[in-house]
Amino acid sequence: MKTGPDSKQSLLFCLYFLCHACCVPSKDTADSCQWLWINSNNLTVNCISKGLRAVPQGIPVQACSIQLGVNRISHVTRSDFPHYAFNTLKLNLSHNRIGKIADGAFGSFPNLEQLDLSDNRIRTLRDDSFRGLLKLKELHLGQNVISEVPLFHDLLSIQALWLQSNRLIQIPAVKFMASLKVLSLASNKIVSVDSGSFQGCGSLAELHMQQNLISRVAGEGFDGLFQLKVLNLSCNMLETIPPEAFRAFASQETDLVLHDNPWQCNCNMYKLKRSAPASLAQRIRCHTGPLAGHYLSTVNQEQLTCKESLQVAHVVTVTVPAGRGLKLACKTKNKKGQLLYWQTPLRKHKTMTIYSSEDHAFVLSDGSLKIVRFSAHLSEYITVSLVMQKEN
Ligand SMILES: *[C@@H]1O[C@H](CO)[C@@H](O)[C@H](O)[C@H]1NC(C)=O
Ligand SMILES: *[C@@H]1O[C@H](CO)[C@@H](O)[C@H](O)[C@H]1NC(C)=O
Ligand SMILES: *[C@@H]1O[C@H](CO)[C@@H](O)[C@H](O)[C@H]1NC(C)=O
Repeated sequence: MKTGPDSKQSLLFCLYFLCHACCVPSKDTADSCQWLWINSNNLTVNCISKGLRAVPQGIPVQACSIQLGVNRISHVTRSDFPHYAFNTLKLNLSHNRIGKIADGAFGSFPNLEQLDLSDNRIRTLRDDSFRGLLKLKELHLGQNVISEVPLFHDLLSIQALWLQSNRLIQIPAVKFMASLKVLSLASNKIVSVDSGSFQGCGSLAELHMQQNLISRVAGEGFDGLFQLKVLNLSCNMLETIPPEAFRAFASQETDLVLHDNPWQCNCNMYKLKRSAPASLAQRIRCHTGPLAGHYLSTVNQEQLTCKESLQVAHVVTVTVPAGRGLKLACKTKNKKGQLLYWQTPLRKHKTMTIYSSEDHAFVLSDGSLKIVRFSAHLSEYITVSLVMQKEN
């Protein structure tokens, strides 16, 4: 005869309690917590700062809110919440030492709306970490050490996802989180915003990406964000941005926060200056070079040039007997640019300088360098290089 699952379970349950009652009397229970009845069907169990090392036993399924913050809990598994179907809407495990979340750890909370796991030691998350949380609206995962976020299939109602202060190097898989309204990725190590990163996130209203290492934004990087009200990209590594990236926001009143980026007001900014609305150009403050400190809106298009010098030729080392001369041809004619100078050990030889009879070397009209005569102080071995200025 088969034993029914119920009797088997209750037998286990008894053994479990017996064992714990006699052998491990120090196991934490919810008795040390505060039980706060707001009304007959609204109970908050407050176990904040009780020095707990594990989820205490005996939390009632009726608890609307379970507060387990500021303890020393190091892991969460399904067996920590043995009863199925807690009525709980809010579960707070913030400021603990949780490093691992077992698959389906929160499977007993089909009604959960808010889960706070911030300020823990979570390193990895798995597809099934939040299995069954179909009604979850708010997930707090800030202040952990998460470097990768898998696609969470069950978070169909998620509205706010907090992932600030982690170790993400790329934007997590939030595509098609259609109900998502707030996403914080601030203070991570994200380097780029790639095409279609937010595809299907049509409800997103706030995107916080400040304090990352973003230096590249694809033209289609923000496509699909039709409702965005705040985009914070401050404190990143942006030197320029393709104007198409902001196309989606042109008709919305999106608050773009762009300060503290090393914006380079040079030829690479030309397209943005030409096509971006003034409201955007007013937020881009040139970082270095002659336009440093000016806003893109106040500079002229003609000022946006690229004039970095560029060392084109390989460094040449020649050996010449004393008393002999030498001519080095400028072989960089095919490179677009203007010759700035030849560098020899004695000095820079510019194209424009007038040759005087004391000079040991000078630049010919075709750009080549003529060294008249090697003398003892212009050593036998000289190193020359050609420096050119790149044209736009
Ligand atoms: C329980 O009471 C708190 C505090 O008054 C309230 O914020 C919360 O919405 C209530 N929850 C339910 C399910 O009634
Ligand atoms: C979770 O608990 C901590 C500590 O008690 C508190 O600071 C935090 O605001 C709570 N989280 C939420 C989302 O209410
Ligand atoms: C944007 O991020 C900066 C930090 O880099 C912060 O000071 C500012 O308040 C944020 N602004 C908005 C609108 O989120």
